[in-house]
Amino acid sequence: MLCGRTHIMSREKLLEMNRSLIQHGEAGTMDLADQVAKIPVEAYTDITLFEREKERIFKRLPLMVAPSCELPEPGDYKAMDIAGVPLLLTRKRDGSVGAFLNMCSHRGNPVVSGTGNASRFTCGYHGWTFKNDGDLVGVASPKDFGAVDKAELCLKKFPVLESAGLIWATLDVDSTLSIEDYLCGYDDLLAAFGFEDWILFDKRELPGPNWKTAYDGYLDFYHLPVLHANTFGSDFFNRANYFAWGPHQRLANPSKFAQRTGSDEMLDLTEIPEDDWPIDALVQGVWTIFPHISIASFYGGGGRGAMISQLFPGETVGESVTTQFYVMEREPETEEQRKGAQEQFDFLKIVVRDEDYSTGKRQHDALMSGQMGHVLFGRNEGGGQVFHQWADKLVNASDDELKDIFAAENAVAQAAE
Ligand code: FES
Ligand SMILES: [Fe+2]
Repeated sequence: MLCGRTHIMSREKLLEMNRSLIQHGEAGTMDLADQVAKIPVEAYTDITLFEREKERIFKRLPLMVAPSCELPEPGDYKAMDIAGVPLLLTRKRDGSVGAFLNMCSHRGNPVVSGTGNASRFTCGYHGWTFKNDGDLVGVASPKDFGAVDKAELCLKKFPVLESAGLIWATLDVDSTLSIEDYLCGYDDLLAAFGFEDWILFDKRELPGPNWKTAYDGYLDFYHLPVLHANTFGSDFFNRANYFAWGPHQRLANPSKFAQRTGSDEMLDLTEIPEDDWPIDALVQGVWTIFPHISIASFYGGGGRGAMISQLFPGETVGESVTTQFYVMEREPETEEQRKGAQEQFDFLKIVVRDEDYSTGKRQHDALMSGQMGHVLFGRNEGGGQVFHQWADKLVNASDDELKDIFAAENAVAQAAE
C-alpha cells in the first residue's frame, strides 16, 4: 500500500497530467517533439547491436518480470529464461519475493521449471535441495560427496524489488544499480492502479518481430485508426501526449473525455469536480516501463482489467516473445462477466498478433533488405523518439555511467515532486 504522502502526491501528479490533457484537447493541440527524427535501420537489423542490447539492456537493467498477482501465495514460484539467463522467482514464507539464478550450485542444472507452489526445490540431476529463499539445505549422499560450505552454495540472488504490485529483477548478481533509482518515482504513479490487490485472470505468449519494432507499436497512437481500423475502428483518436520519468513513458489522448468504468460511456471530465475524477480516468492511456513493458486498461465483461504486455528479445534479431498478462481488479463473479473478460483478452490477441506483430514482421523483413538507410519518427511520435534515444544511450553507457545516469534522473524526479 502507498503511504499517505506519496498517495496524495501521486494523485496530484495524475491530476496535473489530466489537466494538461484536457487543455490540449480543448485547444485542439498536442505536445510535439522538436523535429522529425531519423533512426538508422541498423537499430532494428544489426545482429551485433542486437547481441549488445541483450547484454547491456536486458542483462543489466531492472526488468519487470512478473505482476505480483502471478505469485500471490507463499511458496508460489515461476521459472523464466530471459535472454538466456535462467531466473527463478519465489514468494517466500515472509511474503517477500526472491529472485535467483536458477542454477544448482552443484553443476548448474536449473533446479525447477515452469510455475507452481513449493517451499523447496530438489535438483533433478543429483538431488541437491534448496529452500525457496535460496538456502542449500540438502546435499545428496553428503558423506560420499565430501565437505562443502552450504552457506556459500545457496542459489545466487539477483537484486529484486516489489513495488506497485509489480516485481522487478536485475539479471546480474553483481549489479549495484539501484532499482528505485532506475524507476525515477514512476512506480509511485503506477501504484494508482492498485495492482497489489488485483488478480491474474489469464496469460499467454505471442511470438513477434524484432523487440524494438514490436515495442514501437506500444508507444504509438498514430497507427491506431489505420492499422486497427477493422478492430478498434477507424475513428480512433490518433494523438498522444507523452509524460516521461527517465526512460519510462505514459501516453494518453489529449482530450477531456475519459471512459466510465465498465461501460462504453464517455465522461466529460470538465463537467466533474476534480475531486470526483475516477482513478481509472486518471490512469487512462498506455503506461510503458522501459525497456519492454506496456500496460493498458480494458473493461471486458464490465470488470476493470488491464493488459500487461511483457516483451523479450527472441532467438534472432527478427524475433521477440511477448507474454500478455490479463489482470483484473476483481475476480469475475458471474459466468457472463468471466466470458466478457475472456472475450476482451482474446480480442487483444487478435489485434496484437494479426495486426501489430504481423505488420511488424513484414516491416522487419523489408528493413532487412538493406535498401533503406533510416526510418522516420514524426513530431507527433515523440514517445518512439525518446525510446530510441534511451536505448542508444544505455547500450553505450559503462556500468558506472549507468548508475550516474539513473541517480541523476531520480534526483530530477524527486525535485519535481
Ligand atoms: S546439478 Fe544439481 S544436484 Fe547436481
Ligand atoms: Fe497497435
